[in-house]
Amino acid sequence: MTNVPFNPSPKSLSSGVEKSSGVVDQRGRGIRDLRISVTDRCNFRCVYCMPKELFGSDHAFLPRAELLNFEEIERIARAFASLGVTKLRLTGGEPLVRKELETLISQLAVIPGIDDVSLTTNGSLLTLDKGRALKDAGLKRLTISLDAVTEEVFSAINDVKFPVAKVLGAVDNALAAGLDPIKVNMVVAKGMNEEEILPMVRQFKGTGVILRFIEFMDVGNTNGWKLDRVVSAREIVETIASEFPVEPLNANYPGEVASRWKFSDGSGEIGVISSVTKPFCSSCTRARLSAEGSVYTCLFASEGTDLRALVRSGASDDELRDAVQNVWSHRDDRYSELRSDATVDLPKVEMSYIGG
Ligand code: GTP
Ligand code: 5AD
Ligand code: SF4
Ligand code: SF4
Repeated sequence: MTNVPFNPSPKSLSSGVEKSSGVVDQRGRGIRDLRISVTDRCNFRCVYCMPKELFGSDHAFLPRAELLNFEEIERIARAFASLGVTKLRLTGGEPLVRKELETLISQLAVIPGIDDVSLTTNGSLLTLDKGRALKDAGLKRLTISLDAVTEEVFSAINDVKFPVAKVLGAVDNALAAGLDPIKVNMVVAKGMNEEEILPMVRQFKGTGVILRFIEFMDVGNTNGWKLDRVVSAREIVETIASEFPVEPLNANYPGEVASRWKFSDGSGEIGVISSVTKPFCSSCTRARLSAEGSVYTCLFASEGTDLRALVRSGASDDELRDAVQNVWSHRDDRYSELRSDATVDLPKVEMSYIGG
């Protein structure tokens, strides 16, 4: 076994609160990233996210008229950009179930101040043509979720018998479309897929794809989360290091969510997202916009602020900007840091609704 001393914070050297020219919250954090959920629907039923018992054929997803249209999303994104947001990430549900997503991307990519538009997808609808259309529209980067490479394990997780090969095909399509660097996200939970950590590393090591392991989080109220099901970042890195020596890397930018590690043989890097065992709230500069136009200042928030009503009532750009500024300046969230506090027990919004 190769022993790598676990450095719990390779990113801590450069993390911290970045000075913002725009609005700051109650803890001095600026607003840099906006994650936009474009739909609450998904064609998978991942057991930790949209379990079939709760998201069955009778589940009431949002009716179309409730969803923000592309013009409304663009206007809201412009308001955020004017307050300091530089990065946009489209999420869902599954964002590619929303038709003509490339049209939205082309609208967002040209907003002054926005220098990065990315997408997190399950890959099921990512043909080569779609990948090229997204790239041509201005998409910079893509993240694909894949929780296992063993067919039975992946099938049991996505719960719709979706084959591994098709997701691997999506990774190839994304690479061929020039959407690199591609990241692959793997949520790790005990009893679900911890045996897949090494097979996933073997699959992607040396391919240029950046594999990222995410600690199982207690988002929403429906995913059966218990602390003892969390495989810690430390355990994940130790498992990987037992076969492939790794060394810590510094963060790419202040407040990066993933801790980075490189393979000692030079064959690429991995990331580990330790939001349970090592929260990163102090440098959290992310806001989230739900598909129906509410803004959430934390992944674990129970309530959002409705911007759709404002937009649909004919508010001016300045009024919209003031509303966002008001929400952000009152923000005090640090859920992951408080998680262990038993007195914090609020109903939370579902991940498939707010986006990851
Ligand atoms: P880039 O560094 O820009 O590539 O993005 P990222 O690291 O934010 O990647 P991504 O959006 O794929 O996030 C990966 C996962 O980290 C998400 O799906 C969530 O599970 C988790 N995550 C991202 N942002 C937060 C956050 O603000 N709080 C918590 N607790 N988890 C987060
Ligand atoms: N814990 C950690 N990650 C999660 N995701 C969804 N639910 C959870 C959870 N409970 C991940 C997805 C995807 C991203 C959008 O969020 O697998 O990679
Ligand atoms: Fe869909 Fe992603 Fe949730 Fe799985 S984790 S059900 S792919 S939104
Ligand atoms: Fe940000 Fe909330 Fe996640 Fe903390 S728990 S990092 S405040 S989204």
